[in-house]
This record gives sequence, structure tokens and C-alpha cells, in this order.
Amino acid sequence: MLNPRELNVRLAAASALSREAGALTMRRFRDRGFKIGLKGPQDFLTEVDSEVERLIAARLHVQFPGDGFIGEEGAGRVSHGDAPIWVVDPIDGTANFARGAPHFCVSIALTDGKKALLGAIYDPALDELFTASAGSGAFLDGAPIRVRDTTQMHAASVEVGWNLRSPPETFLGIMKHIAESGAAPMRCGSGALALAYVAAGRSDAFLEPMINAWDCLAGNVLVEEAGGYVSDFLARDGLTKGNPLLACAPGVRAALLELAAAVGIVL
Ligand code: IPD
Ligand code: CA
Ligand code: CA
Repeated sequence: MLNPRELNVRLAAASALSREAGALTMRRFRDRGFKIGLKGPQDFLTEVDSEVERLIAARLHVQFPGDGFIGEEGAGRVSHGDAPIWVVDPIDGTANFARGAPHFCVSIALTDGKKALLGAIYDPALDELFTASAGSGAFLDGAPIRVRDTTQMHAASVEVGWNLRSPPETFLGIMKHIAESGAAPMRCGSGALALAYVAAGRSDAFLEPMINAWDCLAGNVLVEEAGGYVSDFLARDGLTKGNPLLACAPGVRAALLELAAAVGIVL
């Protein structure tokens, strides 16, 4: 169990490191001199993903050698007893990054396995840093952020995560229900930024039928600390196996829980 000082030291480290990793990502985004491949259908991978993850893993290992580390690209899936675990997505929004669309971020979270403790999400294209730690609020570039006070679905924007881990029928069902509710559906290709945007009141909700911990843990702390609702992502081995996720402004929570249940999403 980390004390508040240890948590603060880690939040400062995650903030600085996400900026450093984001600067490297942005340099590589501009020079375009990298190879693009596919891990599977629609699952993009560039050599920059691994390069950035190696940088983050190395820095964290030097600063916090006792902490565990899980990175999307597998730079070191290690954990040490009950030590806290860093959960890192070096580039979230890789398909955007690969195609030259500037909507991606570096996402760094810390968890004790039961709860997400802190999150830092850095968008290098806009030079925006979203940070939060449990019990201490959520911030954009140091200024406090709050979720929106939207209560009507016909005034809401809902971002929907999509990947081939769930059947197309689930995605189509979600989109149908959102359209019928009068809310505006979006899909921008970075789950982490989608969550940061809910926290900052730029959208009202993010829903994905199956998402991984590195995509969402940092954003989950942001939404909770900004006054929003986040489903229990870490239940049922979410840390290693992933889970469905709903994160939203409190005023649209009931409508979205009903919508998720209607398409068979068990939150
Ligand atoms: C993906 C993005 C996307 C989400 C997918 C993720 P990647 O991560 O966050 O928005 O819907 O589930 O896999 O591949 O860009 O790191
Ligand atoms: Ca991701
Ligand atoms: Ca990624």
C-alpha cells in the first residue's frame, strides 16, 4: 500500500515521462520514417509503439525498481508480489498514428490490482496533459476538470470503442440504441483520449464492449476523479483479460446502463 507521498512521487514521474514519451512519439509522427504492420485484422503496429514502450519501461525500472510493469507491446510483463503495477499504452490510437491523423496519446496508469491509483494521459499533438490520482482530483495541464452536467441523451455525445474482439452485432446494437436515444455517436480511435475527454467535459460518455487495461486504466481514474461514473473494470481479472467498460457523466449513467444491458454487455 503506497502512502500519499509515494503516490505523489509516482504521479509526478508519470506526468514527466508521458511528456518525454509523447515528444518522442511526435518526432517520429512528423518524420514518418517508420514501418507499419498489422498484429491482426485492423490491429495496427508500428516500430514506434515498441520504441516508446521500451523508453517508458526503462525509465520506470530505474526510478521504481520494485514496481511491476504491464505494457501493451510486452516490454516486460512483470510483477513483484503485491507491489503496485504500472500499466502502459505507449501509443493509444495507433491506427490514427500510422495513418498520419494526429489523435493519439501516451497513457500511463498505476494500480494495486484492486483499484486504479493514478493516470497520466499526454496528447502530444495538442500538448495536453491529463492527470489524476485517487482522492486528489483530475486536471488538464494543472487546472481542475469536471465531467459535464448533461442529463438528457438528446444533448449527449457518446464515444463508442470498436475493435474486432467483439462481434459486429454488438457494435451495431450499441450504435442503433445511441441513435434511437437521440445522443450523438462518435468513434475517434483512442480509448484513452475518449476517457480523458469525458473527464474534461468534452463528451459525456465512453462505452466499449471489450477493452484492455492499458487502454483505459489511466482514463478511468481521470473520469472518477472528475466526478463521473466508471464501471468496475478490474472485476473478473480485468487487469489481464480486459472487460467491457462504461465511463460517463452521472446524469446519463442510468440511460447508458440500460442501453448496455439491452445489447447484452455485462458491466
Ligand atoms: C485501441 C484504441 C481504440 C479502442 C481499442 C484499442 P490501440 O488501442 O484505444 O480506441 O477501441 O479497443 O485496442 O491499438 O490504438 O493502442
Ligand atoms: Ca490502446
Ligand atoms: Ca497501443
